[in-house]
Formats: sequence, structure tokens, C-alpha cells
Amino acid sequence: MLGDYEKLKKDIMSLTTVDLNAYKEKQMKRRIDSLIVRNNISSYDEYVKVLKEKGDLFNEFMNYFTINVSEFFRNPLQWDIFDKQVIAEIKEKGTLPKIWSAACSTGDEPYTIVMILSKYFDLKKIKILATDIDKTILEKAQIGLYSEKSVKNVPKEFLNKFFTKNGDFYQISDEIKNCVEFKLGDLLKDEYPKDKDIIVCRNVLIYFTEEAKDEIYKRFNKSLKKEGVLFVGNTEQLISASEFNFEPIKTFFYRKLSI
Ligand SMILES: C[S@@+](CC[C@H](N)C(=O)[O-])C[C@H]1O[C@@H](n2cnc3c(N)ncnc32)[C@H](O)[C@@H]1O
Repeated sequence: MLGDYEKLKKDIMSLTTVDLNAYKEKQMKRRIDSLIVRNNISSYDEYVKVLKEKGDLFNEFMNYFTINVSEFFRNPLQWDIFDKQVIAEIKEKGTLPKIWSAACSTGDEPYTIVMILSKYFDLKKIKILATDIDKTILEKAQIGLYSEKSVKNVPKEFLNKFFTKNGDFYQISDEIKNCVEFKLGDLLKDEYPKDKDIIVCRNVLIYFTEEAKDEIYKRFNKSLKKEGVLFVGNTEQLISASEFNFEPIKTFFYRKLSI
């Protein structure tokens, strides 16, 4: 027993502004407890004290609780639908879609989007928004160096065109990087951008409570233009899409109802 978890949540809130109440409690507590024990710390109060004093442990906490696992073209079949249906429909209009990758982690997701867009639009004109709560992960995203595992689903022609092999790693090109604007953003409390054609938010909503998720769906709906599309992760289907003013267009894809 490490102490009072309710108090820890309050301390973390004042230290990091992160609201742990919005994350599924059992899972989050288990993760935080194991991190604390791994650091040979015996109570929440002591942990909070070292978080205040040691920047490296603070960064470790932010990194660990946020779960940053990502990869390019994660669940390739869904990216195929994104390309052949969602983007195909928009490109008919001839205007560049306004896209937001929400909770973008190490950049694999927004860079995947840019590579797909590059098939239809001039790379020099593409600009998409990518946000995440974790400052360190955004710095990594901007560096753009990836392991073999991260790029395993990247189609050969993109790998050859947009990456340079650097030892065991793959460096993404500046022409792709320049198309993404990375910004710090907490989905639970920061303002959402407006007038988006597409919001890609994958593999983060699973960590939130039902109440937090519902609020986010409502806010995503407001952020989208009329008939805009929300693309969610593999285990994150909306049970009652119409409640949030969405209609399903394909599994994992929802269109804002035009009302
Ligand atoms: C598992 S990764 C998903 C990355 C990417 N979307 C994908 O599907 O590969 C989850 C990301 O959500 C971010 N995250 C967690 N809580 C967040 C919040 N409240 N606001 C914004 N991002 C958050 C984490 O920092 C992490 O980078």
C-alpha cells in the first residue's frame, strides 16, 4: 500500500496539470504503482516529493503514464480506407483537407497522413496539425528518427522516397516534417481547433473513463466542419454515434451529421 491514491491524483494535478480522474482508474493506478516501486520509492508522498525535485523522474512519469506506443500505418487496412475513401472523396473537391492528428505521440501518425496526402497534393502546400500532452514525445516527433519496427508497414515506395537509413534507424525527410505543425495540447482541458475536415484520434480514448470520452466526442464534433470525418482506433468504436451527432461511414470512421 503506497498511500492515498485520491491525494496522489490531486498532487499530480497541481504538479503537472494532468487530470488522472479522467483516466480509467484501475489500469492507471497499476501503472503508476509499478513505476513507483521500480524506482524503489515506498509511498505516493515520497514520489511526489522526488517528482518536484528531479526533472528526469518528472519526465519519466509523463512519458510512462501517457503510453506512447505508435507506428506508421498502424492497422494498415484502416489507412487504406482512409486513403481510398475519405481522402479520395475530399480530393474530388480539389481543396487541401484540414486535418488534426490528436494525441499524435512520436509523429508516426501525422507523418503517415502526410505521406498519403502527398499522393494527391503538392507537399509544399500540405500543413496538418498534430497535438499531444507529452512535451518530450513531441520533441522526438520533430526529430523524426524511427526504428525498423516503427516503419515496418510503410509502403516500399514511401520508405525509399521519404526516409534515409541511419545505422539501425530511419530518418524521415524534412519535406515530410515541414508539413506538420506540432503543438502541446491536453484533450481534457485545452481548447480544440476549429473547422477541421478530418480528426484522427487513435489509441488514446481507450485510456479514458466513459464520461471523459463522451465529452471528447462532443468536442470533436464541434471541431469538425459540416460532414467532417472522425477516424478512431481499432478498439474505439462509438457505440451510439448518433448521440454525438455522428453517423458511421465505415468501421472506425464517423461523419458529422449535417445539423
Ligand atoms: C498510444 S499513443 C497513440 C499514438 C497514435 N495516435 C497512434 O495511434 O499510434 C497515446 C498518446 O496519447 C497521448 N495522451 C494521453 N493523454 C492525453 C491527453 N489528455 N491529451 C492529449 N494527448 C494525450 C499520449 O501522450 C500518447 O502519445
